[in-house]
Amino acid sequence: MNAYELKISLPDDVAATERWGERVGRGLAAGQTVALSGPLGAGKTTFVRGLARGLGVDDPDGVSSPTYLLVVEHAGAPPLMHADAYLPEKLAAFLEDGGLEYLLDADKVVCVEWAENVGNMLPSNALWVFLDHVADGGRELVLRTSSPQDYPATVDWSRNHGSD
Ligand SMILES: Nc1ncnc2c1ncn2[C@@H]1O[C@H](COP(=O)(O)OP(=O)(O)O)[C@@H](O)[C@H]1O
Ligand SMILES: [Mg+2]
Repeated sequence: MNAYELKISLPDDVAATERWGERVGRGLAAGQTVALSGPLGAGKTTFVRGLARGLGVDDPDGVSSPTYLLVVEHAGAPPLMHADAYLPEKLAAFLEDGGLEYLLDADKVVCVEWAENVGNMLPSNALWVFLDHVADGGRELVLRTSSPQDYPATVDWSRNHGSD
């Protein structure tokens, strides 16, 4: 599948991660899924906090790691579903047991941390967000999707090279 991807170098500043999340959040619509991947401490939850602000949820500062809760809903228009697959067997069992319909609610925006652990259950048009540590303390952010037309307001995908 052809993928469109944008690489961004984030400075050693938590606000930079939040700002990019906010920018992505502003361009999202109900029914869309953001799949986040990257090691512990890379900034996934920070990104979702900014995304929640950009989306306009009621309590963006209330976004925290949902690891032991599986799914947390944040009220808003649209609401945000924030899930975490750090414990993959737990979330996968929940999703297989009817939770997938609950999570992928067409009236809500969905964010999933550790999404690679449940990647085959997520929509194929998801926006993937990869975060990783870099040596100077900053972060590398990669945005990738096979459906750039679904995220027209997020970045100018036409400037990005497609890759297989
Ligand atoms: N660009 C950045 N530069 C420096 N620290 C950052 C950056 N982005 C996030 N952080 C910090 O990294 C730590 C882990 O972030 P968090 O979002 O909880 O990661 P994850 O959800 O991937 O485990 C937090 O202390 C956060 O403030
Ligand atoms: Mg987290």
